[in-house]
Amino acid sequence: MCPPDHFTVEYAINPWMDTTVPVDASLALKQWDMLRTTLADLGHTVHLLSPEPGLPDMVYAANGAFSVDGTVYGAQFRHPQRAAEALAHRGFYAGGGWDFASPVHVNEGEGDFAYLPVAYGGMVLAGYGFRTDPAAHAEAQEVLRRPVLSLKLVDPAFYHLDTALAVLDDRHIAYYPGAFSPASRRVLAQLFPDAVIADREDAEAFGLNLVSDGRHVVLNTEAVAMGDKVRAAGYLPVHVELTELKRGGGSVKCAVAELRP
Ligand code: ARG
Repeated sequence: MCPPDHFTVEYAINPWMDTTVPVDASLALKQWDMLRTTLADLGHTVHLLSPEPGLPDMVYAANGAFSVDGTVYGAQFRHPQRAAEALAHRGFYAGGGWDFASPVHVNEGEGDFAYLPVAYGGMVLAGYGFRTDPAAHAEAQEVLRRPVLSLKLVDPAFYHLDTALAVLDDRHIAYYPGAFSPASRRVLAQLFPDAVIADREDAEAFGLNLVSDGRHVVLNTEAVAMGDKVRAAGYLPVHVELTELKRGGGSVKCAVAELRP
């Protein structure tokens, strides 16, 4: 995670960002810290990335890389405003025993890549349509040596895969079908007949932008209905208030880069 020390909305690269509405910086920090302590209280180790001035979106740490079993596929951001973040993430992995691969193609890390460790022996779900170049899906498959399933996002409000689909445990997912092309919807229904299905309201509340440890599902407080859905599916919802991070177009998952050593 990366503290929102320099978080602002000073450019708009997704439909949620409104540069005319100021961000409450101290509230953003307080809410972010509550997310950090919530994860720590659930028993997870949280490493911190140093925030850098001039990179207001660094708080969305999920976008900087994607790791699977010790191999890290680095990010290359779509927008120049975020380009320098990739280097900061690369620095984090340097020397940590990770096998780091620099990307040739545009991709936004865990924003558009998700991992299911048990499904089909370990598979990657990957989004494209707004940020990540589909060529990066093939590149990720070569780097990570896992099957990569390409899914086409069609709604600009859900510009990253992690706003429309979430991994709940080793093999189960939740998703909002309306964010995907009809063909991708068909593919998801075929591979994940037991998925938790979210509706547009759940997705707009950033209810799919969650982090799950397979038992606890940490999600935005606004996503009340989504919390009920994951509870009905056998998980324990843990709500965290992240109103300020939503102003930048993100929530729980965007703020957490999961490490798979
Ligand atoms: N303002 C950031 C952007 O548009 C938000 C990134 C949200 N992160 C995420 N994993 N969806 O790039």
